[in-house]
Amino acid sequence: MITIEPITPIMAEPLAKLHAESFTDTVWTLEQIIGSLTLNTTCGWVAYANKQPMGFILCQLADEQAEILTFCVHPQNRRQHIGEQLLQQAIAAIRAENIKTIFLEVAADNSAACALYKKLGFKVNGRRKGYYRRGTSMVDAIYYSKIII
Ligand SMILES: CC(C)(COP(=O)(O)OP(=O)(O)OC[C@H]1O[C@@H](n2cnc3c(N)ncnc32)[C@H](O)[C@@H]1OP(=O)(O)O)[C@@H](O)C(=O)NCCC(=O)NCCS
Repeated sequence: MITIEPITPIMAEPLAKLHAESFTDTVWTLEQIIGSLTLNTTCGWVAYANKQPMGFILCQLADEQAEILTFCVHPQNRRQHIGEQLLQQAIAAIRAENIKTIFLEVAADNSAACALYKKLGFKVNGRRKGYYRRGTSMVDAIYYSKIII
């Protein structure tokens, strides 16, 4: 059974490991994870199965807007709707804060993440050419947003 619980700074080390195992690039260092978890403008959730973290999402909240800072599910636990549950949890919490818009940025070749964002009602609202490196080539960044009603 999957449970979704708020992130706490004590989780920084296992979450840094999970992040490193989940991304082939843009891996956050332990220091970056600790730095984010100790800011009072960030909030996040971890998905656990058998007390092991399977994925997490980290968001930054401002007065009017929220941003998804990072978000991942371990490769062995994908396609089980864990990412969707984490994103739904973040959206619900952001709505509860009375924030109306959520932003995020994703690599254009990240078809799994793009499909998930579209499924949950995010719309493309910008593109930055050649933002991510892929070996010797570059990939665009796509900016998504969702208006929370
Ligand atoms: C993106 C990511 C978090 C999705 O997590 P997940 O738990 O595997 O996704 P879910 O099982 O919740 O998928 C929910 C929906 O997203 C879409 N989706 C997810 N993975 C997909 C894939 N590989 N191909 C196509 N659609 C996909 C589908 O619409 C899916 O719904 P469905 O299963 O009913 O068709 C995961 O692939 C991941 O960690 N990727 C590496 C890190 C990353 O890219 N993070 C996002 C950076 S912006």
